[in-house]
Amino acid sequence: MSAVTINGISKTFDGKVAVKEVNLDLRDGEVLGIVGPSGSGKTTLLRLVSLLIHPDSGIITIQGVNAEGSQEHRRRLRTQTAMVFQYSALFDTNIFNNVALGLKIRGFGKREIETRVRDMLGLVKLSELEKRRANTLSGGEAQRVALARALVVQPKVLLLDEATANLDPKNVEIIEGLVRRANVESRTSVIIATHNLNQARRLATRIAFLLDGELVEVGDTAEIYANPKDERTAAFIAGRMVW
Ligand SMILES: Nc1ncnc2c1ncn2[C@@H]1O[C@H](COP(=O)(O)OP(=O)(O)O)[C@@H](O)[C@H]1O
Ligand SMILES: [Mg+2]
Repeated sequence: MSAVTINGISKTFDGKVAVKEVNLDLRDGEVLGIVGPSGSGKTTLLRLVSLLIHPDSGIITIQGVNAEGSQEHRRRLRTQTAMVFQYSALFDTNIFNNVALGLKIRGFGKREIETRVRDMLGLVKLSELEKRRANTLSGGEAQRVALARALVVQPKVLLLDEATANLDPKNVEIIEGLVRRANVESRTSVIIATHNLNQARRLATRIAFLLDGELVEVGDTAEIYANPKDERTAAFIAGRMVW
């Protein structure tokens, strides 16, 4: 079974087509890179998969379940996924509470919450800062909190939207390491949307190349870099695409 299926999905904003008839699967346990220049529809596609917005047409399934339905149905299905944005808004409280919130909502007990949050803060190397208010953090620390908040609920599907753009190499390394770990140890299926080809290459097993809302090409990472079939993919990979 696929973790996510995207079947004939289109989305238009004010007459502008952001995503056009995209068909794409996230296979169970894989890391899929969605790559393309700015404006190609990556964020829109992730917002559709995270059920934040509705498609104009087409069907999305999460863990085999059709996402269309009542608000309650979508809300329940959304708990299978977690998303980290380029600029993730944290709550105006301390780091511990930011990471704990999703567990509280899901009804976990106090002891279990403390154990899970402290373990997760250790993994993102923020144990010393658990009492710090979120609005005093650096950009890199804030993104590590956002990732901790996403992973602590052990989502089946993790969605990363340019999650390390503008971060320094040390923060990128911590975040990428943790994404890899979640994928390997918890079998979390991951989609990373990025315009950064190097990051996609480091993390993804398959790459989908998006341009002007359309899926141009999808293939195994090594194959698509070495031997792109579409001229536009080749141009993007070679740095010849102007946008
Ligand atoms: N909420 C919105 N309202 C109007 N236009 C939007 C909205 N979101 C995205 N778009 C447009 O859809 C296209 C795809 O955007 P986006 O999904 O953000 O691409 P990417 O993440 O690849 O940069 C762009 O032309 C963008 O301007
Ligand atoms: Mg984007």
